[in-house]
Amino acid sequence: MKRQGQMNDTTQKTTHFGFSEVAESDKAGMVHGVFTNVASKYDIMNDVMSVGVHRLWKDAMMDWLAPRNGQKLLDVAGGTGDVAFRFLSRAPAASATVLDMTESMLVEGRKRAEAEALSHRLDWVVGDAMALPFPDNSFDRYTISFGIRNVTRIPDALKEAFRVLKPGGRLIVLEFSQLPNAGLQKLYDLYSFNVIPRMGQVIANDRDSYQYLVESIRKFPDQETFAAMIRDAGFENVKYRNLSLGIAALHSGWKI
Ligand SMILES: C[S@@+](CC[C@H](N)C(=O)[O-])C[C@H]1O[C@@H](n2cnc3c(N)ncnc32)[C@H](O)[C@@H]1O
Repeated sequence: MKRQGQMNDTTQKTTHFGFSEVAESDKAGMVHGVFTNVASKYDIMNDVMSVGVHRLWKDAMMDWLAPRNGQKLLDVAGGTGDVAFRFLSRAPAASATVLDMTESMLVEGRKRAEAEALSHRLDWVVGDAMALPFPDNSFDRYTISFGIRNVTRIPDALKEAFRVLKPGGRLIVLEFSQLPNAGLQKLYDLYSFNVIPRMGQVIANDRDSYQYLVESIRKFPDQETFAAMIRDAGFENVKYRNLSLGIAALHSGWKI
Protein backbone atom coordinates (compact mmCIF):
# COMPACT_ATOMS: atom_id res chain seq x y z
CA MET A 1 0.00 0.00 0.00
CA LYS A 2 1.39 3.41 -0.92
CA ARG A 3 1.85 5.78 1.96
CA GLN A 4 1.89 9.55 2.02
CA GLY A 5 4.29 11.44 4.28
CA GLN A 6 3.26 13.70 7.13
CA MET A 7 -0.29 14.95 7.45
CA ASN A 8 -0.80 18.71 7.45
CA ASP A 9 -0.50 20.04 10.97
CA THR A 10 -1.60 23.41 12.26
CA THR A 11 -1.31 24.28 15.96
CA GLN A 12 -3.21 27.05 17.79
CA LYS A 13 -6.48 26.96 15.86
CA THR A 14 -9.41 24.90 17.08
CA THR A 15 -12.13 23.00 15.25
CA HIS A 16 -15.00 20.68 16.11
CA PHE A 17 -14.79 16.96 16.68
CA GLY A 18 -18.47 16.12 16.85
CA PHE A 19 -19.78 18.55 19.48
CA SER A 20 -16.39 18.97 21.18
CA GLU A 21 -13.95 21.77 20.42
CA VAL A 22 -10.45 20.38 19.81
CA ALA A 23 -7.11 21.70 18.53
CA GLU A 24 -7.01 21.53 14.73
CA SER A 25 -3.80 19.56 14.96
CA ASP A 26 -5.54 16.86 17.06
CA LYS A 27 -8.59 16.24 14.91
CA ALA A 28 -7.10 14.01 12.20
CA GLY A 29 -5.64 11.69 14.83
CA MET A 30 -9.00 11.46 16.60
CA VAL A 31 -10.86 10.74 13.34
CA HIS A 32 -8.21 8.16 12.50
CA GLY A 33 -8.87 6.55 15.90
CA VAL A 34 -12.61 6.35 15.23
CA PHE A 35 -12.21 4.65 11.86
CA THR A 36 -9.47 2.33 13.08
CA ASN A 37 -11.88 1.19 15.80
CA VAL A 38 -14.84 0.67 13.48
CA ALA A 39 -13.04 -0.70 10.37
CA SER A 40 -13.82 -4.40 10.80
CA LYS A 41 -17.50 -3.69 11.56
CA TYR A 42 -17.88 -0.68 9.24
CA ASP A 43 -19.77 -2.36 6.40
CA ILE A 44 -22.23 -4.23 8.59
CA MET A 45 -22.86 -1.15 10.75
CA ASN A 46 -23.58 0.92 7.64
CA ASP A 47 -26.25 -1.54 6.58
CA VAL A 48 -27.79 -1.79 10.03
CA MET A 49 -27.78 1.95 10.87
CA SER A 50 -29.26 3.00 7.55
CA VAL A 51 -31.38 -0.15 7.06
CA GLY A 52 -29.52 -0.58 3.79
CA VAL A 53 -30.45 2.86 2.47
CA HIS A 54 -26.79 3.93 2.11
CA ARG A 55 -26.66 1.47 -0.81
CA LEU A 56 -29.46 3.34 -2.60
CA TRP A 57 -27.72 6.67 -1.96
CA LYS A 58 -24.46 5.33 -3.40
CA ASP A 59 -26.39 3.98 -6.41
CA ALA A 60 -27.94 7.45 -6.86
CA MET A 61 -24.43 8.90 -6.75
CA MET A 62 -23.43 6.56 -9.59
CA ASP A 63 -26.57 7.40 -11.58
CA TRP A 64 -25.60 11.08 -11.50
CA LEU A 65 -21.89 10.41 -12.05
CA ALA A 66 -22.58 8.11 -15.03
CA PRO A 67 -19.19 6.31 -15.13
CA ARG A 68 -17.64 5.75 -18.57
CA ASN A 69 -14.99 3.33 -19.81
CA GLY A 70 -11.49 4.81 -19.82
CA GLN A 71 -12.17 7.21 -16.95
CA LYS A 72 -9.86 7.43 -13.95
CA LEU A 73 -11.67 7.89 -10.65
CA LEU A 74 -10.17 9.16 -7.43
CA ASP A 75 -12.37 8.15 -4.49
CA VAL A 76 -11.18 10.10 -1.45
CA ALA A 77 -11.95 8.91 2.08
CA GLY A 78 -12.91 5.79 0.15
CA GLY A 79 -12.70 3.51 3.20
CA THR A 80 -13.73 -0.04 2.33
CA GLY A 81 -14.19 0.79 -1.35
CA ASP A 82 -17.99 0.88 -1.74
CA VAL A 83 -17.99 3.80 -4.20
CA ALA A 84 -15.02 2.59 -6.25
CA PHE A 85 -16.56 -0.89 -6.61
CA ARG A 86 -19.79 0.59 -7.91
CA PHE A 87 -17.90 2.84 -10.34
CA LEU A 88 -15.91 -0.10 -11.74
CA SER A 89 -18.92 -2.34 -12.07
CA ARG A 90 -20.68 0.31 -14.20
CA ALA A 91 -17.65 0.93 -16.43
CA PRO A 92 -15.73 -2.32 -16.99
CA ALA A 93 -12.81 -0.52 -18.69
CA ALA A 94 -12.38 2.24 -16.09
CA SER A 95 -9.90 2.34 -13.19
CA ALA A 96 -10.03 3.74 -9.68
CA THR A 97 -7.75 4.92 -6.90
CA VAL A 98 -9.08 4.73 -3.35
CA LEU A 99 -7.39 7.10 -0.91
CA ASP A 100 -8.02 7.09 2.82
CA MET A 101 -6.06 8.18 5.87
CA THR A 102 -7.05 5.05 7.83
CA GLU A 103 -5.11 2.04 6.65
CA SER A 104 -7.36 -0.48 8.41
CA MET A 105 -10.35 0.75 6.36
CA LEU A 106 -8.36 0.21 3.14
CA VAL A 107 -7.29 -3.24 4.34
CA GLU A 108 -10.97 -4.23 4.62
CA GLY A 109 -11.55 -2.80 1.14
CA ARG A 110 -8.66 -4.71 -0.36
CA LYS A 111 -10.06 -7.97 1.02
CA ARG A 112 -13.34 -7.20 -0.72
CA ALA A 113 -11.58 -6.30 -3.98
CA GLU A 114 -9.74 -9.61 -3.96
CA ALA A 115 -13.00 -11.47 -3.32
CA GLU A 116 -14.66 -9.64 -6.21
CA ALA A 117 -11.63 -10.04 -8.54
CA LEU A 118 -11.31 -6.26 -8.98
CA SER A 119 -7.79 -5.79 -7.58
CA HIS A 120 -6.11 -5.23 -10.96
CA ARG A 121 -8.25 -2.12 -11.62
CA LEU A 122 -7.79 -0.58 -8.18
CA ASP A 123 -5.04 1.29 -6.39
CA TRP A 124 -5.16 1.80 -2.60
CA VAL A 125 -3.35 4.82 -1.16
CA VAL A 126 -2.98 5.94 2.46
CA GLY A 127 -3.15 9.73 2.39
CA ASP A 128 -4.84 12.94 3.44
CA ALA A 129 -7.67 14.59 1.49
CA MET A 130 -6.12 17.99 2.33
CA ALA A 131 -2.76 17.16 0.71
CA LEU A 132 -3.32 14.66 -2.08
CA PRO A 133 -0.17 12.86 -3.23
CA PHE A 134 -1.02 13.23 -6.94
CA PRO A 135 0.03 15.69 -9.66
CA ASP A 136 -2.31 18.39 -10.98
CA ASN A 137 -4.87 17.35 -13.63
CA SER A 138 -4.61 13.59 -12.95
CA PHE A 139 -8.19 12.30 -12.66
CA ASP A 140 -11.44 12.46 -14.65
CA ARG A 141 -13.70 12.06 -11.64
CA TYR A 142 -13.36 12.75 -7.92
CA THR A 143 -15.77 11.28 -5.39
CA ILE A 144 -15.99 11.56 -1.62
CA SER A 145 -18.76 9.72 0.16
CA PHE A 146 -19.47 10.31 3.85
CA GLY A 147 -15.88 11.50 4.18
CA ILE A 148 -15.76 15.25 3.84
CA ARG A 149 -17.48 16.03 7.14
CA ASN A 150 -14.57 14.31 8.91
CA VAL A 151 -11.91 16.43 7.23
CA THR A 152 -10.32 19.10 9.44
CA ARG A 153 -10.27 21.90 6.83
CA ILE A 154 -12.95 21.22 4.24
CA PRO A 155 -11.96 24.14 1.94
CA ASP A 156 -8.43 22.66 1.69
CA ALA A 157 -9.85 19.29 0.62
CA LEU A 158 -12.07 20.95 -2.00
CA LYS A 159 -9.10 22.91 -3.38
CA GLU A 160 -7.14 19.68 -3.64
CA ALA A 161 -10.05 18.02 -5.46
CA PHE A 162 -10.01 20.89 -7.97
CA ARG A 163 -6.25 20.67 -8.40
CA VAL A 164 -6.06 16.93 -9.16
CA LEU A 165 -9.05 16.90 -11.52
CA LYS A 166 -8.37 17.32 -15.23
CA PRO A 167 -10.06 20.25 -16.98
CA GLY A 168 -13.53 18.92 -17.79
CA GLY A 169 -13.36 16.74 -14.68
CA ARG A 170 -16.16 16.40 -12.19
CA LEU A 171 -16.53 16.21 -8.41
CA ILE A 172 -19.42 14.48 -6.66
CA VAL A 173 -19.82 14.56 -2.89
CA LEU A 174 -22.22 12.32 -0.97
CA GLU A 175 -22.71 13.49 2.58
CA PHE A 176 -25.28 13.63 5.34
CA SER A 177 -27.14 16.90 5.16
CA GLN A 178 -29.92 18.87 6.81
CA LEU A 179 -33.65 18.17 6.60
CA PRO A 180 -35.59 21.21 5.36
CA ASN A 181 -38.34 20.79 7.96
CA ALA A 182 -37.72 21.36 11.70
CA GLY A 183 -40.22 18.67 12.77
CA LEU A 184 -38.63 16.01 10.60
CA GLN A 185 -35.17 17.09 11.72
CA LYS A 186 -36.26 16.60 15.33
CA LEU A 187 -37.52 13.09 14.64
CA TYR A 188 -34.34 12.24 12.78
CA ASP A 189 -32.23 13.63 15.65
CA LEU A 190 -34.16 11.47 18.11
CA TYR A 191 -33.32 8.39 16.05
CA SER A 192 -29.69 9.40 15.50
CA PHE A 193 -28.80 10.36 19.02
CA ASN A 194 -30.75 7.64 20.82
CA VAL A 195 -30.47 4.63 18.54
CA ILE A 196 -27.19 4.83 16.65
CA PRO A 197 -24.73 5.06 19.60
CA ARG A 198 -26.60 2.14 21.24
CA MET A 199 -26.32 0.10 18.04
CA GLY A 200 -22.61 0.93 17.98
CA GLN A 201 -22.33 -0.38 21.52
CA VAL A 202 -24.16 -3.64 20.76
CA ILE A 203 -22.74 -4.46 17.33
CA ALA A 204 -19.26 -2.94 17.41
CA ASN A 205 -18.80 -2.66 21.21
CA ASP A 206 -17.96 1.01 20.61
CA ARG A 207 -20.48 3.63 21.65
CA ASP A 208 -18.11 6.61 21.50
CA SER A 209 -17.20 6.25 17.82
CA TYR A 210 -20.87 6.20 16.84
CA GLN A 211 -21.63 9.13 19.15
CA TYR A 212 -18.95 11.06 17.19
CA LEU A 213 -20.52 9.98 13.88
CA VAL A 214 -23.96 11.37 14.76
CA GLU A 215 -22.52 14.57 16.20
CA SER A 216 -20.38 15.14 13.11
CA ILE A 217 -23.49 14.76 10.93
CA ARG A 218 -25.22 17.54 12.88
CA LYS A 219 -22.23 19.87 12.52
CA PHE A 220 -22.00 19.58 8.73
CA PRO A 221 -23.21 22.66 6.77
CA ASP A 222 -26.57 22.69 5.01
CA GLN A 223 -26.95 22.10 1.27
CA GLU A 224 -26.69 25.76 0.15
CA THR A 225 -23.75 26.57 2.40
CA PHE A 226 -21.85 23.53 1.19
CA ALA A 227 -22.64 24.34 -2.46
CA ALA A 228 -21.10 27.80 -1.89
CA MET A 229 -17.96 26.20 -0.44
CA ILE A 230 -17.63 24.05 -3.58
CA ARG A 231 -17.97 27.17 -5.78
CA ASP A 232 -15.34 28.94 -3.67
CA ALA A 233 -12.88 26.13 -4.51
CA GLY A 234 -13.25 26.98 -8.20
CA PHE A 235 -15.93 24.53 -9.34
CA GLU A 236 -18.62 25.59 -11.78
CA ASN A 237 -22.14 24.45 -12.56
CA VAL A 238 -22.51 23.41 -8.89
CA LYS A 239 -25.79 21.66 -8.16
CA TYR A 240 -27.18 19.43 -5.45
CA ARG A 241 -29.86 16.79 -5.05
CA ASN A 242 -31.45 15.80 -1.77
CA LEU A 243 -31.69 12.13 -0.91
CA SER A 244 -34.37 10.81 1.46
CA LEU A 245 -35.76 14.33 2.02
CA GLY A 246 -32.33 15.78 2.80
CA ILE A 247 -31.04 13.22 5.31
CA ALA A 248 -28.21 13.03 2.78
CA ALA A 249 -27.38 15.08 -0.31
CA LEU A 250 -25.30 14.78 -3.46
CA HIS A 251 -23.34 17.82 -4.61
CA SER A 252 -21.83 18.00 -8.08
CA GLY A 253 -19.36 20.49 -9.55
CA TRP A 254 -17.23 20.72 -12.68
CA LYS A 255 -13.67 21.91 -13.30
CA ILE A 256 -14.16 23.82 -16.51
C1 LIG B 1 -17.69 7.21 7.05
S1 LIG B 1 -16.23 6.62 6.25
C2 LIG B 1 -16.72 6.62 4.55
C3 LIG B 1 -16.17 5.46 3.77
C4 LIG B 1 -16.72 5.29 2.37
N1 LIG B 1 -16.42 6.44 1.54
C5 LIG B 1 -18.21 5.05 2.37
O1 LIG B 1 -18.96 5.88 1.84
O2 LIG B 1 -18.64 4.02 2.89
C6 LIG B 1 -15.21 8.05 6.35
C7 LIG B 1 -13.77 7.80 5.92
O3 LIG B 1 -13.11 9.06 5.79
C8 LIG B 1 -11.75 8.86 6.10
N2 LIG B 1 -11.13 10.17 6.33
C9 LIG B 1 -11.47 11.08 7.26
N3 LIG B 1 -10.71 12.18 7.14
C10 LIG B 1 -9.87 11.98 6.09
C11 LIG B 1 -8.86 12.75 5.46
N4 LIG B 1 -8.54 13.96 5.91
N5 LIG B 1 -8.21 12.23 4.41
C12 LIG B 1 -8.52 10.99 3.96
N6 LIG B 1 -9.47 10.20 4.52
C13 LIG B 1 -10.13 10.69 5.57
C14 LIG B 1 -11.81 7.95 7.30
O4 LIG B 1 -10.58 7.30 7.54
C15 LIG B 1 -12.93 6.99 6.89
O5 LIG B 1 -12.44 5.85 6.26
